[in-house]
Amino acid sequence: MKFFVDTAEIDDIKELNALGIVDGVTTNPSLIAKSGRDIIEVTKEICSIVDGPVSAEVVATEADAMIAEGRELAKIADNIAVKVPLTWDGLKACNVLTNEGNMVNVTLCFTANQALLAAKVGATFISPFIGRLDDLNLDGMELIADIRDIYDNYGYETQILAASIRSANHMSDCAKIGADVATAPPGVIKKMADHVLTDKGLEAFLKDAAKANIKIV
Ligand code: E4P
Repeated sequence: MKFFVDTAEIDDIKELNALGIVDGVTTNPSLIAKSGRDIIEVTKEICSIVDGPVSAEVVATEADAMIAEGRELAKIADNIAVKVPLTWDGLKACNVLTNEGNMVNVTLCFTANQALLAAKVGATFISPFIGRLDDLNLDGMELIADIRDIYDNYGYETQILAASIRSANHMSDCAKIGADVATAPPGVIKKMADHVLTDKGLEAFLKDAAKANIKIV
């Protein structure tokens, strides 16, 4: 499973990228606003750090305006994936922008039918939002599984980009189901390394090492 990092914070992207675990980046208008930076400037900097797809989202709601914004965003770098919302206009924009050779990430997906339409119009990525469904006592992971089944039934090449990930367990659950990509905030990716028994075990090993005066360098 590919890991995308869901942030517009440059230091976090650099730290995780240096570890070799960043296959791409996703941003959205809220994350860009949080960075306090100009969308074009910050997106350009992210694209210069990460080789994989960097999603940059349009803010227009009508197809022609989304297409114009998408073309502008695509000029930033070759690894831009234009992000459009899963509305009827967004699907129209996706179709045009992918036919022009751009990567397109269709976002704000909450049903299998929406994901089916995104695949039909040629989306590069579909972003089902797990956390926001879970927040409503619905089952975000069940949606990932349903989309996996549907895409596999017909050989759709649209990649499932699991989004709105809130916990480390979401990451392993997505990997078990077979999501192509999971995008998560830096903190969630780091949490994947944590276990209380690792901490306890290390504490005991270090105590014994100190007692025995073990030194390596
Ligand atoms: C990524 O593409 C999405 O914009 C993001 O994962 C949304 O996450 P949230 O529901 O935690 O805001």
